[in-house]
Amino acid sequence: MMSMTCHNLDFGTSVLDFVACGCATNGTIGRCAGKSCARTISRSKGCRARRLVCWRQNLARCHAFSTKTPEALLNGVGQVPPALLNLKNESRRTISLSKLFEVVADDLQTLNQNLQSIVGAENPLLMSAAEQIFGAGGKRMRPALVFLVSRATAELAGMKDLTTKHRRLAEIIEMIHTASLIHDDVLDESDMRRGKETVHQLYGTRVAVLAGDFMFAQSSWYLANLENLEVIKLISQVIKDFASGEIKQASSLFDCDVELQEYLQKSYYKTASLIAASTKGAAIFSGVDPFIAKQMYDYGKNLGLSFQVVDDILDFTQSAEQLGKPAGSDLVKGNLTAPVIFALEKEPKLKEIIESEFCETGSLEEAIELVKKCGGIERAQELAKEKADLAVQNLQCLPQSNYRLALEDMVIFNLERID
Ligand code: IPE
Ligand code: IPE
Ligand code: MG
Ligand code: MG
Repeated sequence: MMSMTCHNLDFGTSVLDFVACGCATNGTIGRCAGKSCARTISRSKGCRARRLVCWRQNLARCHAFSTKTPEALLNGVGQVPPALLNLKNESRRTISLSKLFEVVADDLQTLNQNLQSIVGAENPLLMSAAEQIFGAGGKRMRPALVFLVSRATAELAGMKDLTTKHRRLAEIIEMIHTASLIHDDVLDESDMRRGKETVHQLYGTRVAVLAGDFMFAQSSWYLANLENLEVIKLISQVIKDFASGEIKQASSLFDCDVELQEYLQKSYYKTASLIAASTKGAAIFSGVDPFIAKQMYDYGKNLGLSFQVVDDILDFTQSAEQLGKPAGSDLVKGNLTAPVIFALEKEPKLKEIIESEFCETGSLEEAIELVKKCGGIERAQELAKEKADLAVQNLQCLPQSNYRLALEDMVIFNLERID
């Protein structure tokens, strides 16, 4: 097949729709739907995209096509333009979480009802501790991602609806996330979570540790009952990763020699691993092929890294009231995150202040000022965008649908938190 390029192309080679439709093989012939362009294009068997060429309904430009396989292109062999830039260029509106989750709102409602009952009523104290944090809310981002990927991939696999395994996976994931938050708040000595008092603040450290353990154990029980060895291995690894991430963090406090790569690895362990397992697990339960499952894993991983970098920026830029949890607490506790790591490259004085563990009055404020003055926040923003861009590219193996759009919007929503 020859390479086909639209004549009104003005921004480099794009493979977005080509990959989205998987039209390298088995193609039927169609016409490019781009404005004033009638080039012949190939369309995959079963591709249901209405406007095959345009990446989004309102994009009035054609994309070029390449003869490379989607796999080769996604591996970076082809010249893929920044996918995120394309999304941004479409002058999309500001995204709200409720709008974004609208397509899985019913699924989330059922999840909230089930979560209350599966925590277990065996121990009233643990039950109240669990209720404290579940009842406080939270974005429910991870189960929403499970539902969105489940629905996007179920469509691809020709399934009519979600299975009970998809739903149970979403519940397990939120339970693991909540358990990790309870333990994280003990380790970070945080007194506020989701706008309410933390479990250890209310019930003491012993109860908080046990409540977290209980939830990890409860989620493992439900996981085993899913009877899918691949998913059991995937999620068990996440629980292990979470502990590795927290240990890594605790053992490098105030260490100014920490490198960006180590920070990313810690963030992967603490945050991205769970999100990646959520999106891959959902794809596995839809029975899609391993290539798609891997792309879903990478989507979750890249989104998760971007999410943690944004969370670390917000710790510098927002108030406790806005966050619903303590602000400005990472640096004071010696947790050196992306903005600090970047600023340390520029300003040797920052190292001195951090290594003194802010023993002098006013030194913390000085350090925060230096981080901001040295462009630490901006460079961290760039890093979050870089990961976000990769996440959007990972979605190109999915057919166009409202679920895929919501998965893209999730990436943008996360970045908009720091706009
Ligand atoms: C908080 O996650 C922990 C991080 C990974 C930064 P969320 O921001 O998703 O927490 P909730 O569930 O909405 O409270
Ligand atoms: C993420 O790290 C914590 C978990 C994955 C549990 P943080 O320590 O930055 O999370 P927050 O800021 O307390 O929510
Ligand atoms: Mg914390
Ligand atoms: Mg944080």
